[in-house]
Amino acid sequence: MFTKVDAKKNRKLLSDREPELAIEWPQSRLLADYVFLLLKSWSFETLSNEKQLPEIIGFLALASHAKRFALAEINPDSKPIVVDIGLGDGFALQEIKKRTDFVTVGFGLHEINPENKPFIDLLCYSSFPKGPKARELFDLLRGKVSLVVEAYGASTYAKGESNSIESLIAASLLLAPGGTAKLIISCILKEDRDQSPMGFANQRQRLVTFIQRVLGIDIVISRTYIKSLVVTGSFCVDYHVEIKRGLEASVSDKPLDELFAMAREQIGHCDLVPKTTRFGEFGFYNIQGSTYTLEGQQPQLHALDTRAALVSSSFRFSGPQSNYPTFKLEFNSMIILQDFIVRFSEYYLNNKDKPEWIVVQNPVDTSVELAFTRPSKGLVNAMYQARLEINRVVPDLLTVSNKGFGEMEPPTDLRTIKSM
Ligand SMILES: C[S@@+](CC[C@H](N)C(=O)[O-])C[C@H]1O[C@@H](n2cnc3c(N)ncnc32)[C@H](O)[C@@H]1O
Repeated sequence: MFTKVDAKKNRKLLSDREPELAIEWPQSRLLADYVFLLLKSWSFETLSNEKQLPEIIGFLALASHAKRFALAEINPDSKPIVVDIGLGDGFALQEIKKRTDFVTVGFGLHEINPENKPFIDLLCYSSFPKGPKARELFDLLRGKVSLVVEAYGASTYAKGESNSIESLIAASLLLAPGGTAKLIISCILKEDRDQSPMGFANQRQRLVTFIQRVLGIDIVISRTYIKSLVVTGSFCVDYHVEIKRGLEASVSDKPLDELFAMAREQIGHCDLVPKTTRFGEFGFYNIQGSTYTLEGQQPQLHALDTRAALVSSSFRFSGPQSNYPTFKLEFNSMIILQDFIVRFSEYYLNNKDKPEWIVVQNPVDTSVELAFTRPSKGLVNAMYQARLEINRVVPDLLTVSNKGFGEMEPPTDLRTIKSM
């Protein structure tokens, strides 16, 4: 293990491994790309709208809410600290340094672009969060970071030595009071839509509960449409993760290992889900789904079968002007109902200022009513759109015959969307 200090520039390198040579994966994103990925909640319709410029200043301003801390050597002047977990070539951190007064810290396993090195105050080649130097740096920065960013970094790729959930726990604990973390974590392209490095929907829900209740930190997981850089012409429905530590929040001060042990107990033991294709593989760094299994249970390897559990579906128009297409779905199990609500919320409710859906659960008959409030040209169009949106969450959940209106051809514009 070695620590080098560039005395002239006072920049530090912390490393317990030789950085690997860069491989063929997207790793040179600019700050604008980060903001594009981390800030906007893209829907299927806005996916191709390139006109929406990233709000870099607004993004960086998130750091101003956090309490600041002085740290000998790297931050004697109590500037906001920003950490990139999986910095790639280091362009985003380089630009943050040029634009702001922040202290820049990057974790990575691959050699960064040498031209960006002078703009990174602390560079750590070590596996986040469990590599020896990563751990050392975590201990130094715990509770002191204003802004954590991650664009398909450790939480997407961590496996074997660590896993996505441990990475998110550590990222949460880095935050200073008032600090924010914005991450994007990959879906598993070409595999089940509910797979993720953070497990299946019910496991992600356990993660959210753990971070909120055990750590005392807020976390929201939502889905966002992204054009794939790996498979041209495809789109991914990736996971946005926003973590916020309240200014006055009472946050766990338990040692990381103790919290990881609690996470294994309460969220589950991590295994990889076998892949059926080779999409998204970069040697060891393939993007693979994980499953988190509680003691005494069998590992879940597929999404829960929502379709098979749908007992009935009915349709009506609701709302003050009777123009909200409304589907009532009744399931044969509370577990499936809850799983569906988690998945639906990730698509349409979480992290949205104005959700377009009104969702009412009825535990008595294990049902949910979903009313779609987006204005539309005509009732038929609205109904088709609502059905399409529900089927994005669980493919083919609603067939034409159970929409309650008999067989009908979809309007042309929606047919185009469906065939993409
Ligand atoms: C696909 S690249 C993305 C790089 C950069 N965020 C970007 O968007 O351009 C993945 C990055 O995460 C880093 N990485 C993967 N697993 C990691 C881990 N466990 N700890 C630290 N860095 C990791 C890799 O070394 C690489 O820098």
